[in-house]
Amino acid sequence: MKFFNREKEIKEILSVIESEPQLIYFIYGPINSGKTALIREIIRNRLDKSKYIPFLIDFRQVSVGSFEDFIEAMFEVDYTTKIDDIKKYVKDFINWILENTDTVSKLISMYSGVPLQIPAPVLKLEEKEERRIKNIYRYLKELFIGIREKGKVPILVLDELQMLKDISLNGNRPLLKSFFQFLVALTKVEHLAHVFCVSSDSLFIEHVYSATDLEGRARYILVDDFEKKEALEFIDFLVKELLKGKIVLNSKEKEKI
Ligand SMILES: Nc1ncnc2c1ncn2[C@@H]1O[C@H](COP(=O)(O)OP(=O)(O)O)[C@@H](O)[C@H]1O
Ligand SMILES: [Mg+2]
Repeated sequence: MKFFNREKEIKEILSVIESEPQLIYFIYGPINSGKTALIREIIRNRLDKSKYIPFLIDFRQVSVGSFEDFIEAMFEVDYTTKIDDIKKYVKDFINWILENTDTVSKLISMYSGVPLQIPAPVLKLEEKEERRIKNIYRYLKELFIGIREKGKVPILVLDELQMLKDISLNGNRPLLKSFFQFLVALTKVEHLAHVFCVSSDSLFIEHVYSATDLEGRARYILVDDFEKKEALEFIDFLVKELLKGKIVLNSKEKEKI
């Protein structure tokens, strides 16, 4: 479907993307305000595909309750490989992305991002969760370093962030804190990747902000419901795009909607 307006927010997000990664950005606003649609529109249609490699994780797709669910939501685990050397796998994966631009373009159109592959051996299923999460961070860091070395900039979007609320490692140490420390390292410290966290749950965002020490390390971008004038224009847009103008609404009906 075609996308309506949001030029101000698109400009704001693109200007973040065009500068050096510095901060974690929280994209927030009421449920159904259009946060997901906006970020997907930017990735699909507004990004210079020769410069950026987007990865979009939708934590809603898998009901995230355990560490296993977290892995399943984040990654496409590559069970076909025997490679357990992170650097070697990363090199092959990046080369695949760079050499298959048509396929990658199609994947971006379909999924608003490149599937985030990880080799199964790196997850070492028999090991403790604490070790496995360290391997995951090491893998992502190497991947993003490799992408930067090829002159491209990775963008990591984490949609429906509030789904991570209850995940803990081995039932005690919460995953959230180490995950956000890692995201701070990616942005503020090493400037490797852009990170956008999307959620309607502002209480949860507040919790993350204070519990993981994000002061000076994160910023907010509001995607609010449309103002009245814009909302009325949006109805016209929907009538045209969805109903192909088959019905005509008078202004009273539009007001009611
Ligand atoms: N700017 C827009 N143009 C066209 N459709 C939109 C726009 N913003 C939102 N929508 C549509 O409205 C619905 C809700 O938007 P969504 O992005 O899922 O909201 P949120 O992620 O904020 O909860 C979706 O069907 C989406 O496609
Ligand atoms: Mg959404």
